[in-house]
Amino acid sequence: MENQIIRAGIVGSGFAAKFHFEALRRVFSTNVEIVGVHSSTASKMEEFALIRNLKAFHHLDELIDQSDVLHICTPPVTHEPFVIAALKKNKHVIVEKPFTGYFGNGSADFNGDTFSREEGLKETLKSIARMLEAEKKSQGKIMYAENWVYAPSIQKEREILEKTGAQILWMHGEESHSGSHSLAYGKWHLSGGGSMIGKGCHPLTAAIYLKHVEGRVKNGHPIRPKSISARTHAITRLPSFEDKGHLKSGYTDIEDFAMLHITFDDGTIATIFASELVLGGVHNWLEVNANNHRTICNINPNNSMQSYTPSEEYYKDIYVVEKTETKQGWSSISPDEDWYTGYQHEMDAFYRSAAFNEPVESNSKLAADVITTIYTGYVSAERKGAEVMVEILN
Ligand SMILES: NC(=O)c1ccc[n+]([C@@H]2O[C@H](COP(=O)([O-])OP(=O)(O)OC[C@H]3O[C@@H](n4cnc5c(N)ncnc54)[C@H](O)[C@@H]3O)[C@@H](O)[C@H]2O)c1
Repeated sequence: MENQIIRAGIVGSGFAAKFHFEALRRVFSTNVEIVGVHSSTASKMEEFALIRNLKAFHHLDELIDQSDVLHICTPPVTHEPFVIAALKKNKHVIVEKPFTGYFGNGSADFNGDTFSREEGLKETLKSIARMLEAEKKSQGKIMYAENWVYAPSIQKEREILEKTGAQILWMHGEESHSGSHSLAYGKWHLSGGGSMIGKGCHPLTAAIYLKHVEGRVKNGHPIRPKSISARTHAITRLPSFEDKGHLKSGYTDIEDFAMLHITFDDGTIATIFASELVLGGVHNWLEVNANNHRTICNINPNNSMQSYTPSEEYYKDIYVVEKTETKQGWSSISPDEDWYTGYQHEMDAFYRSAAFNEPVESNSKLAADVITTIYTGYVSAERKGAEVMVEILN
């Protein structure tokens, strides 16, 4: 087993595919061979492959056949079919967030602002069930690429929970920035929603994960979400929005702000914010208020390195941190951003699981809880924040 080579295939050649490739180069627990890449835009796929000395696969099936682990780094609408295709061939699959969702009924006049949220939830639950069923029948497993679960600060908090038997009373957290660069983002039929799913899924997954851990330690089974109250808004689409050009705008039919309040089945709570309205770089944090400690996980920004320059001209060749508008003045430089965000840790954990059959911390059960909670949140938002019970799949 020690010298086993695990073959990786990357699907997609955009932003996520790039950081998966970088993280794969930092897997140290086993040997990885990246066999190639498949993506829908042939020219971009070939460029991605050429720079990295990879083979470009024009057919997904061929890439699946030649890989042991598939990385699904494509827009959310493709996740279910690609995950099931890989599982059917008994391959492991690492699927980017969000796990799955509702992408409309296929009609050209589908509108993310107006469809029935109950219908969306019903279809999402079916999609989750199909994916879990495919995993049950497969020798491959689903690894949910939620990097927050593996971020060192969240894993340190897991250790605190496990060793001190703490009870988490209230968590609050956020993922926000000035807007996603992906062309698929902003169109519900491709992304499956806006800030609530696209960004909120990160701190929400970390919060649900930590309650899973607490429950595992205390009773041998996870504490799970029970209800949600949520609000969503489309601020950059308001007629009154004064666009100064610093925030991304032009979203078609998604929200750019979400507030989620979750109760867990032990009665404790979490409050999550997600938006596309925040300048100054990615704002990623989770605060845990427990009965014996309080922890603030600053994923980004954090103050591990702070640097000042009077003119950004000096830093023109320096990567500082994701999505800040300027390098002038003080910057919270992330000296190793992928380390703080957990990208390399998640990849090594997934490959340890593929090679040595270690259990997956960010597994399909966690992914299912998160997506069920979010789509129940959309039902609540449609009802202007009324509390809605989360129908947890077992
Ligand atoms: N964990 C994180 O921090 C993080 C960050 C960004 C994106 N993501 C997730 O990664 C996924 C991809 O996002 P991205 O930002 O890389 O988007 P992107 O637009 O940069 O890249 C998407 C890629 O998928 C390819 N693609 C689209 N449809 C396809 C199809 N039918 N078949 C094959 N290839 C197809 C495109 O050609 C492109 O190469 C999304 O699910 C997104 O939510 C996660």
